[in-house]
Amino acid sequence: MKFSALLIFTVTYTTYALVPPTGTNTDDVLVKRQYDPVCTCTSGSTTYTIAPPTSSSTALTSSTPLTSSTPTTGTPPVTTPTTSPPQNDCTAIPKATFLLRAYNKNVKDLYYTANATQMASAVANNGYVEGPHMGRVYTTQEAGTVPLYRLYNASAKDHFYTTSTAQRDNAVAAHGYTSQGIAAYIYTTQICGSIPLYRLYSAEDIDHFYTIHQGEVDNDVPGRGYADQGIAGYVLPLQ
Ligand SMILES: *[C@@H]1O[C@H](CO)[C@@H](O)[C@H](O)[C@H]1NC(C)=O
Ligand SMILES: *[C@@H]1O[C@H](CO)[C@@H](O)[C@H](O)[C@H]1NC(C)=O
Repeated sequence: MKFSALLIFTVTYTTYALVPPTGTNTDDVLVKRQYDPVCTCTSGSTTYTIAPPTSSSTALTSSTPLTSSTPTTGTPPVTTPTTSPPQNDCTAIPKATFLLRAYNKNVKDLYYTANATQMASAVANNGYVEGPHMGRVYTTQEAGTVPLYRLYNASAKDHFYTTSTAQRDNAVAAHGYTSQGIAAYIYTTQICGSIPLYRLYSAEDIDHFYTIHQGEVDNDVPGRGYADQGIAGYVLPLQ
């Protein structure tokens, strides 16, 4: 399925590049396309028709953002790092791999993983369309990095990512999320030439959104109802 994932990825990029849906955002994916009734877009000799969203994207009434960091009494999974490597040791950089991102417009959910097999499965089986990479991260714990935990709320159809064990545990205890382990390892401070991975949240869509692009933060906060929730961590730039 690698070929078709690549094809979707390529077509997606081409379409976005040619048709910024609102005319204001030039670097992405997410803009307001899922709200558009129908978009007929052309690329070379090919015409794409982007269908309107299915009406099954259920409006969920709960909109509690995951900003609470109240520790819970539950027993968190054991994720203790075995070593405490020194800060500013950047020798692991050659091992970094892309943080992949995909979006499912029908359920309004962004999915992130550093595992290409998982991404291929999400694209092939779960209705996700791959978008731009969100910097480079590690698949093993390296100097200065911590786990970026992934959680999922099956009712809200939302993937949530955090480096905070308190937020992770609170999401499980109080917000119906299930822990899905570790998506990647990222920096907690801006070392080794890393850049911020911003976190935003839409209460309306019940969707957590992560990006390395300030342009997406600036556009999506006012444009699509996402609230800026600060910096989730630091990742290496694309190159
Ligand atoms: C990637 O994900 C697949 C499927 O979940 C898993 O079997 C595999 O071990 C993962 N690879 C790495 C390097 O974690
Ligand atoms: C997550 O799912 C539960 C049901 O399992 C729901 O009650 C809750 O509101 C959802 N959380 C969020 C943040 O929407």
